[in-house]
Amino acid sequence: MKVKKAIIPAAGLGTRFLPITKAIPKPMLTVLNKPVIQLIVDELLNSGIEDIGIVVGKDAEVIKNHFAENLELEDRLISDGKTELLERVKAIKGSAKITFIEQKVANGLAGAIIAAEEFINNEPFAMLLGDEFLYTEKGKRPCIGQLIDVFNETGKNVLSTMEVDDVDVSKYGNLGVEEIKPNLHKVYDIVEKPKVNEKLSNYAIIGRYVFASGLIEELKKLTPRNNEIYLTDTLLDLAKKGEVLSYKFDATRYDVGDLFGYVKANIELALKEESLVEDTKKLIKELSEKI
Ligand code: UTP
Repeated sequence: MKVKKAIIPAAGLGTRFLPITKAIPKPMLTVLNKPVIQLIVDELLNSGIEDIGIVVGKDAEVIKNHFAENLELEDRLISDGKTELLERVKAIKGSAKITFIEQKVANGLAGAIIAAEEFINNEPFAMLLGDEFLYTEKGKRPCIGQLIDVFNETGKNVLSTMEVDDVDVSKYGNLGVEEIKPNLHKVYDIVEKPKVNEKLSNYAIIGRYVFASGLIEELKKLTPRNNEIYLTDTLLDLAKKGEVLSYKFDATRYDVGDLFGYVKANIELALKEESLVEDTKKLIKELSEKI
């Protein structure tokens, strides 16, 4: 069965980014003038996935409003002849069919997936974390599309991975892997945020996944630890059965939910934006002379 659906967990508390995340969900943080969640919907549409479930928590209105039609605004832009701005507003959702799913308690990623059980309907699905932006050049297959291609060839769960330096190993889930072919590995072990002397490799798990059907049944068997249920527990069981692969994707990853990641994403994207590139270069040059 091929992947036709995706979920975007967007129900976390976003504590690392307080105070803004007190009222604004982390996936609404912006890279230039677009919220990360819109960039993620674009990543899915450009990978051929239109059926998208967004898992939301209490502060869902701001996300729902972003994807809702605003006829008053559109009429105003039409009557003012502002067609470029109108296109910008219409492009927010594009051809996506979005379903909002409520996660009542923010009890972790596994909880977000279980909340989406009805939407997923026992099919394979993609999962894209709501605070990570994966940039690919125009015309290239986006990160989630690359993972979907691996799933469609193998039928196994696919984790996205990148190599990180030793100093960063403890920030991520860490993989024990065997190479199958360049960029594709079989996962045999997973540790959550290890100390560097306990690492299995320098391969870190990042926020793009494709899961085979049947995952939710396994997640529902988990018992909570510290009020959370951990996706890693189930992934480790599946890895031990040889059911998990990892793919070293070709894209640039920005963790917009981390303060420096947010700054980096905005500066680097400004350097790629035609209307901003010259001023941004000038600013960087001036600043670097002062430092
Ligand atoms: P994080 O692990 O960064 O969690 O979630 P968080 O709780 O929002 O942030 P911090 O660590 O407190 O700063 C990664 C993604 O998973 C979603 C988040 O909204 C984010 O997009 N998430 C997390 C859920 O949907 N539900 C949860 O229970 C936890």
